[in-house]
Amino acid sequence: MHVVVEQQHHVLQVQLNRLDKKNALSGDMYRALTAALAQASATPSIHVVVLLGQPGSFCAGNDLADFIQAGTLDHEHPTVQFLHALSQFDKPLIAAVDGLAIGIGTTALLHCDLVYATAGSRFQMPFTSLGLCPEAASSLLLPKLVGYQKAAQYLLLGEPFTGVDAHAMGLVNQLAEPEDVAVLALQKAQQLAALPQQAVLRSKALLKQPLRAQVQHVLHQELADFEQLLHSDDCKKALAKFFQR
Ligand code: COA
Repeated sequence: MHVVVEQQHHVLQVQLNRLDKKNALSGDMYRALTAALAQASATPSIHVVVLLGQPGSFCAGNDLADFIQAGTLDHEHPTVQFLHALSQFDKPLIAAVDGLAIGIGTTALLHCDLVYATAGSRFQMPFTSLGLCPEAASSLLLPKLVGYQKAAQYLLLGEPFTGVDAHAMGLVNQLAEPEDVAVLALQKAQQLAALPQQAVLRSKALLKQPLRAQVQHVLHQELADFEQLLHSDDCKKALAKFFQR
């Protein structure tokens, strides 16, 4: 199983488990992630979700092989369904990152409520070098978080940055050693799960509310551009280059 889901007390742990592909997300993995979020939303005893990768690789982004065969990015598409579920998820979502966090491995974090990471983690959104554009409403959420110029550095140039950088810019709440990062995230999850649940849910809803409509709007806009770019020669060449290495 490439996504392992386990409930412990009031916390749902969702762990990516495809280390041979650096935790790149396939269609089936997106479906499993969407199902896990739906399960968490619908289960009263689940108060918090923790998203985990593997040591050295949180997530290497979308499976590039799937980009080659990408059909229409409509509501039925597993990535699109995941992006909607993630951006509208109503319970607290915490991520623990060690190592690679590429593409959606970084942009998904913009929807998490708390993020813990190791200093040496490597974040990157190399959309333009793949002939693509930002997704997951990152073109809205990243500049809001880090300012326009920094966002351009990461979304136009696609420069990588470390866990230390991510902490300094506010994408990451706290740094931890590789052996401690998942434990820290789970501790924070238990802390949140022990708080009055209605108060936590209302507070998250209020925190997300100001950008809610804009996030959905930008998500759709980005997907329309992304779909067009997927069929461009630049993108086809970049994907072919990756698989010819
Ligand atoms: N999609 C599909 N396969 C991927 C992948 C991805 N996003 N990322 C890694 N893999 C696969 C590699 O093809 C390789 O498979 P193989 O062993 O069958 O050849 C395996 O995972 C290991 O990756 P490798 O490139 O050998 O590891 P590395 O440590 O040298 O480099 C990365 C790791 C993540 C830097 C590099 O794999 C990479 O650039 N991946 C693409 C990242 C990306 O562009 N994601 C999409 C952003 S939108």
